[in-house]
Amino acid sequence: MNISFADISLGKPGALALVVAEGASPTGVAADLDRKTGGAIKRAMKSSNFTGKSGSVLELVAPHGVPASRILLLGVGKSADLTATILENAGGELIGRLERAKEPSASVVLDAIQSGKLTAGDAAARVAFGAKLRSYRFDKYKTKKKDETGTVKTLAVSTKAAAAARKAYATLEKIADGMFLTRDLVNEPPNVLYPVEFAKRAKTLAKVGVKVEVLGEAQMKKLGMGSLLGVGQGSIRESQLVVMRWNGGKPGDKPVAFVGKGVCFDTGGISLKPPAGMEDMKGDMGGAACVTGLLYALAARKAKVNAVGVIGVVENMPDGNAQRPGDIVTSMSGQTIEIINTDAEGRLVLADALHYTEKRFQPKFMVDLATLTGAIMVALGKEYAGLFSNDDKLSKQLSEAGEAENEKVWRLPMGPAYDKMINSQFADMKNTGSRDGGSITAAQFLLRFVKNTKWAHLDIAGTAMASPQTPINHSWGSGWGVRLLNRLVADHYEG
Ligand code: BES
Ligand code: MN
Ligand code: ZN
Repeated sequence: MNISFADISLGKPGALALVVAEGASPTGVAADLDRKTGGAIKRAMKSSNFTGKSGSVLELVAPHGVPASRILLLGVGKSADLTATILENAGGELIGRLERAKEPSASVVLDAIQSGKLTAGDAAARVAFGAKLRSYRFDKYKTKKKDETGTVKTLAVSTKAAAAARKAYATLEKIADGMFLTRDLVNEPPNVLYPVEFAKRAKTLAKVGVKVEVLGEAQMKKLGMGSLLGVGQGSIRESQLVVMRWNGGKPGDKPVAFVGKGVCFDTGGISLKPPAGMEDMKGDMGGAACVTGLLYALAARKAKVNAVGVIGVVENMPDGNAQRPGDIVTSMSGQTIEIINTDAEGRLVLADALHYTEKRFQPKFMVDLATLTGAIMVALGKEYAGLFSNDDKLSKQLSEAGEAENEKVWRLPMGPAYDKMINSQFADMKNTGSRDGGSITAAQFLLRFVKNTKWAHLDIAGTAMASPQTPINHSWGSGWGVRLLNRLVADHYEG
């Protein structure tokens, strides 16, 4: 979809959409249109009880007296309550309607709203951003494109702040591209996206200036990564550790670090999962996909920060050579782990990835992302990701960034009583606690591999995949986390 920005104008072909506030009578272009259509706009508003509530849409097909194929009024609520999220949703909703109507081109006008806390340029850019996010499709494996919906080819955004909107959108577009990369990686089937292929795709970030290193099993063995390697040991696919670096900050400035769980497929291993829904475990690399999309976005928008992304990429399979319950492995940190359940594999991958990241980079902070536990959905559903941290300030920054970008996180408790639950009678620790506090004991396990770095863990099992459809996302893999962490960097760690 081609998105452009222009000064307020009328008479373009295709659909015409107007962003309207709640309760206000039509002004500007809307008032013009009402006059040209002999009062049809006001009449339609009245007869369908359309008042401009946020999320509401009024559609007039083939209006008399104007060249537009249809007119859409996009309600965004009261001007004083306007947020970026509301405007993005309006842009997304517009694209959904246009696709269903097989309408290839449209213009959307923003002259009737006060943009509230946002500048007029930002407001227009957010409508475009929502439209772009909704336009994502993953249909490369469908040989018959059944075409229940059309594709929107052009969207012209009319605003009196066209230059400012263009500038703001240039950044947002890079973030959307990063999110699309994350969505693609999560949506890909596991026979296509196995660890070596994932690493290959990460290497393409070189085109935006990211330095990418890939460590194979031999190198990881030398480093002593027995915890990560044990997980991949039952797979014929080689495990990979990918290190991505974007150096946009001051030379020598400590980096911020992001670490991702990349289990390309999680069968559970010898502790085999039941068949129902197992196909969803192709998305168990959602954390790694987010880190990859984030590094892309930071580099593409030339963020003034030094950032590293480290992802552990493996496949968890049952096999004659697979790891067993009862096995004891030695992690790179030297700590030993008794395997109780081979399905608690994500923490084993992250243990070595976190230790490696801390030791090599001594980052300002580490945030890890992982589709780690089913229990996080029992606690929080799919609305919030779980946040666990050893640092109140980092937690607060993440919570605020999450509210601003509508990728929300909720902090859960940690402490010595939970830590005790993963002591083992044979090794330094075991890889599962009991059923109680399953997401918390998983986080306690990770914390044992962080020495003295500010750290946060995001359990994204509920938000990265199989997400509920929203105006800006109809993809199975949501791309969750890219916006959140980009915002964290932009607000606190750049410059
Ligand atoms: N990848 C799963 C967690 C998961 C479940 C993600 C559903 C997305 C949707 C993880 O590796 C896992 O299997 N966790 C176990 C841990 C248990 C064995 C302690 C779980 O949640 O049941
Ligand atoms: Mn598992
Ligand atoms: Zn898993």
